[in-house]
Amino acid sequence: MNMYGSKVVGWGAALPDEVVTNKDFEARLETNDAWITERTGIKERRMGGTTSSLAVEAAQKALANAGLQPSDIGLLVLSTTTPEQTVPATSGTIQAQLGLTCGAFDINAACAGFVYGLVVGHSMIATGTERVLVIGSDTLSKITDQQDRSTAVLFADGAGAVILERTAPEDNAVLGWDLGVDGSLVPILYCDHGGYLKMEGREVFKRAVLAMVSSAKTAMERAGVTADDIALVVPHQANIRIIEAANNRLGLSMEKTAIVLDTTGNTSSGSVPLALSAAVEKGMVNPGEYILFSGFGAGMTWASAVVRWGK
Ligand code: COA
Repeated sequence: MNMYGSKVVGWGAALPDEVVTNKDFEARLETNDAWITERTGIKERRMGGTTSSLAVEAAQKALANAGLQPSDIGLLVLSTTTPEQTVPATSGTIQAQLGLTCGAFDINAACAGFVYGLVVGHSMIATGTERVLVIGSDTLSKITDQQDRSTAVLFADGAGAVILERTAPEDNAVLGWDLGVDGSLVPILYCDHGGYLKMEGREVFKRAVLAMVSSAKTAMERAGVTADDIALVVPHQANIRIIEAANNRLGLSMEKTAIVLDTTGNTSSGSVPLALSAAVEKGMVNPGEYILFSGFGAGMTWASAVVRWGK
């Protein structure tokens, strides 16, 4: 058993102001609202801000939600695939803007990155850190060719954050997880320095469903729960059909699944905490119930975790 357990004590999310609708794309690309809605479930998305500005806003909300001060945070973990510079890490900028005095580093596991960050944060708490701020923030619109209809309609900007706090081992709430990557699949989704995202959509779709299903199963097994025990599913928000296909195979209903992609598009690291915040606001989960987080992305990465909710 670990020396300490961890639990979620705060959360927050942030989206840029500019709304870009499917109709807006219709006006400038050879696409239409019906195609985008049917193939992806996305109706609109937000674009603007920077990776750090969105992260800071989400983190400030999480601090307020938890009733904590910047000095209460012992470590900042930023998941991002759109850092502001090659060097230094964007987490440093965020650390300074938030007025934190703790250590900070970036991780990049693409759209699975937030769940990777959650597990890293939990592991740091298990060995003694008191509180970890885990942020997922991305501005994918900056690495997306806005003239390429096959990617422009999918990717957008957003951020979310949670605060993990140390607890007695018997009260531990991060119960089981699975982290993975298949590096042989780099060519199906990547972005070179200074370039734009390139994607083999169909291949990514197929692999994403397989990865989500097997990763979620592993995390649930390790947590000692089954699909029936899960009160809320918080999947990566890439495509409604990927989520439906994975849910079907896992025996999870869409009614208990957090969905924000219709208004956010795919915000990579931001997507899981954005969906979590929206689901909590809607009252979709109660203290003591189990949440299944599941993400997948370029790499090809995947990550799932089962967390007992409670504040
Ligand atoms: N509007 C209209 N037509 C479009 C289009 C758009 N925005 N984007 C692509 N098309 C066209 C293609 O050019 C193709 O035309 P063709 O048959 O004349 O060649 C046709 O639609 C079908 O394309 P295809 O890629 O086979 O469609 P699809 O059903 O696989 O849907 C995606 C495309 C991208 C929506 C789907 O593959 C997908 O969601 N994949 C996963 C992507 C993802 O989630 N990536 C992020 C992972 S973190």
